Amino acid sequence: AEIHYHDFVVQATPVKRLCKTHNIITVNGQYPGPTLEVRDGDSLIVKVTNSARYNVTIHWHGVRQIGTPWADGPEYVTQCPIQPGDTYTYRFTIQNQAGTLWWHAHSKWLRATVFGALIIYPKLGASYPFPKPKLEIPILLGEWWNKDPIDVLKQATFTGAGPAISDAYTINGQPGDLYRCSSQDTVKFIVDSGDTVLLRIINAALNQQLFFMVANHKLTVVGADAAYHKPFTTRTIMLGPGQTTNVLLTADQPPGYYYMAARAYVSAQNVPFDNTTTTAVLEYISTPCKSNQGFPSIPIVPLLPAYNDTATVTTFLSQFRSLSTSSVKISKEIDENLFFTVGLGFFNCDPGPQCQGPNNTRFAASMNNVSFVLPTQASLLQAYYQGIPGIFTTDFPPVPPIKFDYTGNVSRALWQPIPGTKLYKVKFGSKVQIVLQDTGIFTTEAHPIHLHGYQFYIVGQGFGNFIPNQDTANFNLIDPPSRNTVIVPVGGWAAIRFVADNPGVWFMHCHIDAHLTWGLAMAFLVENGAGELQSIGPPPEDLPQC
Ligand code: C2O
Repeated sequence: AEIHYHDFVVQATPVKRLCKTHNIITVNGQYPGPTLEVRDGDSLIVKVTNSARYNVTIHWHGVRQIGTPWADGPEYVTQCPIQPGDTYTYRFTIQNQAGTLWWHAHSKWLRATVFGALIIYPKLGASYPFPKPKLEIPILLGEWWNKDPIDVLKQATFTGAGPAISDAYTINGQPGDLYRCSSQDTVKFIVDSGDTVLLRIINAALNQQLFFMVANHKLTVVGADAAYHKPFTTRTIMLGPGQTTNVLLTADQPPGYYYMAARAYVSAQNVPFDNTTTTAVLEYISTPCKSNQGFPSIPIVPLLPAYNDTATVTTFLSQFRSLSTSSVKISKEIDENLFFTVGLGFFNCDPGPQCQGPNNTRFAASMNNVSFVLPTQASLLQAYYQGIPGIFTTDFPPVPPIKFDYTGNVSRALWQPIPGTKLYKVKFGSKVQIVLQDTGIFTTEAHPIHLHGYQFYIVGQGFGNFIPNQDTANFNLIDPPSRNTVIVPVGGWAAIRFVADNPGVWFMHCHIDAHLTWGLAMAFLVENGAGELQSIGPPPEDLPQC
């Protein structure tokens, strides 16, 4: 195994998009940031220097961080932020993971521009469970604002209303041909007829779930998050923010130009959204007459699903299965049987400029009616490790405090969650099941729920209210897909399982940053086990202080 050293300098960088130049926060002046390439078993040492004017942290999304909880990165959860002028070095090892992950800032809304791919190749001498592709292409889907994303956040926080919608979606940092002043920079990928390429697709958008297609080409899904999956073929894929999907594409069409394109999947009704489409070009090298004319013809545009096509999303997501049935080890018994509501709500407030949510309220979001509040004096992990009192409590409810018709019309009395910094404590080694139930408070909406420090199995999902006896009987305990981010269907539920074999404080939250900001989060405290890797070691000496 190798050790990879990287220097990340977080800095303001002038970037021109949509006809305007403005300063965005980048890593090393790159947008998207540097691609990290490692093999399974390798270690990473990344020294992050903050040369920007905002606090920052970096999270290694999907890396299990076994034995290295201090390197996970979410601000005020596992560390205090790196302040301007300071540095922090993240040290961790990739253990039994394969495929595509990514890294991003985990501080305010900086991840809008601070993100990059983290590619995990098989161990030396090991190969993919599919034919070796001719070419591998990371595809990072992003969301662009003409304003500083921190100002978009400030505006949303001040008014209590939803954030301004984005001005563009991007593929590898570029909006593409369908936007103003963008076509000269459209990203282009060149393939030869007959080649099979591996697309490593990452949804790095801040707030938007996205459909993705390549005109006239079939996509064979071979993996998602950091795990291989049984191959299946599809025209359309959908990724929630935080998710990655690996697909094989064979250049089996007449030589020419084909758009790959992404645009919004919107599950909620009557919400404003950015209805634009980002494109990149797949170019066949043998396309005739291109040397004297540039583009000989307009690229072929894929017919993306309607923005609200939940049926296509459901069909797509239902096809994921773990590749190897023998590696799936799920025991019949469960130690922690948890049921968490996830959903949007409101805080009542006095009408005024700070109450611009629907009907003079402020937006809120919660799990089991707790709207999560980050501490500011110390990180949760530090508070636990050093026994600092008053930072958190461990009374996060294992089931909703009240039962109601989760997906029906809900009385207004239930709309207001209670703010709090509540953790749920589990013993090392516990077998955990969580049913995540979307609620109809204000509106039902699909939520990409991400768990730090773990890969979990998605053992079931469905629409409406979860019915324990009936739905449990249909769980897939044979070859459920392994992921780190699960889409809780709009007005439905998803059930996940994992073994709590990694001690630490692990954040679980909606990866739509607007919802996270409103409190759609909680954290697990997984207590120490018996051995060295089963207990939380001391923090690194350079761990930032609050
Ligand atoms: Cu990719 Cu807590 O995030």
